[in-house]
Amino acid sequence: MYEGEQVWRDVDTYFIDHLVDEDEALAQARLSSARTVMPEADVAPNQGAFLAVIAQIAGARRVLEFGTLAGYSTIWLARAVGPDGRVTTFEIDEETAAVARENFERAGVADRIELVVGPAIDSAEALLDAEVAPYDLVFIDADKPNNPHYLDIALKLSRPGTVIIGDNVVRNGAVADPSSDDPRVHGTWALIDRLGSEDNVAATALQTVGLKGWDGFAIGVVTGPTPS
Ligand code: DHB
Ligand code: MG
Repeated sequence: MYEGEQVWRDVDTYFIDHLVDEDEALAQARLSSARTVMPEADVAPNQGAFLAVIAQIAGARRVLEFGTLAGYSTIWLARAVGPDGRVTTFEIDEETAAVARENFERAGVADRIELVVGPAIDSAEALLDAEVAPYDLVFIDADKPNNPHYLDIALKLSRPGTVIIGDNVVRNGAVADPSSDDPRVHGTWALIDRLGSEDNVAATALQTVGLKGWDGFAIGVVTGPTPS
């Protein structure tokens, strides 16, 4: 372990203690990630609060999330959109989805969340086919090799002003290793390349350190018409 990692955790803990209002339902949701297919892949409390702040800055009422797991970030986003808002979230694993549903009930936000079980590409293409209204914010946090496909669909479900956030774009620096043969890294490269090459998306990415180690978010905003 890099000796800085304990300090990263201490700093996160300090910010969480002073800034982040994690109630019992959120804490339970976070702990329940141990019962999902990907324990500990949830965002940290201060990252959940970050997503909620961004959603509120964007005035988001319609949020789309790729990758539910225990629904920890989903609850943060559902609270941010308010009682009239809606979060649609995709989870591939039925048992994991059952854990998330319990968490949504406990958090009092089940009525504003639509949890769709199945491969996220199929679920998202069904939204395209149904010609749903564009989303205000899209959080891409599922299996990384499919990131370019998720971004492609997200852009089709966007409008000028839509915010797109991608999780885990750093992974201990793996993104900067040009010899990587990890399909997750290749998925991240494709996501970043598309964010960078799309004329009507203004985007950047930031590294983070903390309770989740060394990682980062990509964030972009749609600035004009995107492919439909
Ligand atoms: C992994 C995926 C995530 O979304 C995350 O936040 C952490 C780890 C993973 O694939 O290991
Ligand atoms: Mg993630």
